[in-house]
Amino acid sequence: MKENIFEELRDEDSLFKNREVLHHGFTPSALPHREREIKTLVHNLVEALQGQIPSNMLLYGQPGSGKTAVTRFVSQQLLARGAVLGRSVHVVEVNCCTVDTKYRVLAQIGNSLTRKGQSAIPFTGWPTDKVLERLKENMDALGGVHVIVLDEVDHLVQKSGDGVLYALTSLNYGLRNSRCCIIGITNDLLFPDMLDARVASRLGSEDLVFAPYNAAQIEDVLSARAKEGIKEGVLDDGIIELCAALSAQEHGDARRALDLLRISVQKAEHDDSEKVNVQHVRLAQNQLEFDQITPVIATLTAHQKLVLYSVLLNERNGLSNVSTGEVYTVYQMTCAHAGLSPLTSRRVSDLILILDTLNLVTAKTISLGREGRSKRINSCIPDMVDPIKVMLEADDSVKPAIEAQYKLQSRLG
Ligand SMILES: Nc1ncnc2c1ncn2[C@@H]1O[C@H](COP(=O)(O)OP(=O)(O)OP(=O)(O)O)[C@@H](O)[C@H]1O
Ligand SMILES: [Mg+2]
Repeated sequence: MKENIFEELRDEDSLFKNREVLHHGFTPSALPHREREIKTLVHNLVEALQGQIPSNMLLYGQPGSGKTAVTRFVSQQLLARGAVLGRSVHVVEVNCCTVDTKYRVLAQIGNSLTRKGQSAIPFTGWPTDKVLERLKENMDALGGVHVIVLDEVDHLVQKSGDGVLYALTSLNYGLRNSRCCIIGITNDLLFPDMLDARVASRLGSEDLVFAPYNAAQIEDVLSARAKEGIKEGVLDDGIIELCAALSAQEHGDARRALDLLRISVQKAEHDDSEKVNVQHVRLAQNQLEFDQITPVIATLTAHQKLVLYSVLLNERNGLSNVSTGEVYTVYQMTCAHAGLSPLTSRRVSDLILILDTLNLVTAKTISLGREGRSKRINSCIPDMVDPIKVMLEADDSVKPAIEAQYKLQSRLG
């Protein structure tokens, strides 16, 4: 019988020792360059081992700066130490990206503390007060100190307001046999502005900011993970440095660096190469950029797509550094083809700024002296992405505008 098709790529052929280690969901046993952050958390949470209430904390930092990894690492250590000392300490982590209503947050925490034989809080249907009462009952029944980690907490507040944070930060007033503290994690530095002043002051008693990693720090993170996850001698000289340098440009994102290294190794495997070289890193970088930009273009609104298309049409016509007016003229034509009423030129100016923020175009303001100021607009979509193809596939409403023929004027003078 023929071999199973999955057997073709056997473990011994793989360049990975343990692919899992390079995955960003993996919690490593050491976190280089986060000593200060770990120490700050430990200083606060050690109170739980002494039966005291740790302060509530807010952790901030750019994506991939290690907030979730550090919090999980410290939590695991806290639980282990609590077990050794015979102290009742509990940690519950809620990912507020997926659990984003007051009811569901309280229910998830309550259910994580459910005792044997007790029915769970249903997914929906109880009055919220009853869920809160059950949560307190469960906390008191277990006793000790409960650490509640709310990861991506800004999503929760954006979606459901700060009522749930008010309820959670009030728990200590109603608990009889236990205590709790809240750790909120966010990558939005302006998060406290979203909160009622009272909630903000209760929650942010201690702030901890995670600075982005620099290239040398990412190199250390990657080296440690590569040692565990990739077979020896597989990486050409300079591969880790290259992945680190590329990711340091992306606000020092360790997640991105790990993805880049993992995909580079996969590209080498795909090539049946025994070594990972610079070309594999380039291919991996292209794939990451493609995966990152394609959904951004696909989910633009119809008018945003038409504005982007107008910039691209001007460029196809040989014009670069176009002004808002030049984009607007073409945009009006695209709207006519798409059967849409054009927005005002002021609105289009705003849309250009949005496209700039999304890194699809650059819009530089230049001074024309006495004649005021003007924009110089250029597209900046990497070569491996075909924005027109992406827009066509994503949105039928812009199809007639993209497929139409245009007679465009070149710039006068
Ligand atoms: N110092 C470090 N040492 C080893 N791995 C790290 C370190 N910092 C981050 N990582 C790894 O990088 C990835 C991203 O880190 P993490 O998920 O903690 O980022 P985050 O700050 O929570 O980002 P986000 O705001 O996007 O949630 C994870 O796989 C994590 O294990
Ligand atoms: Mg995180």
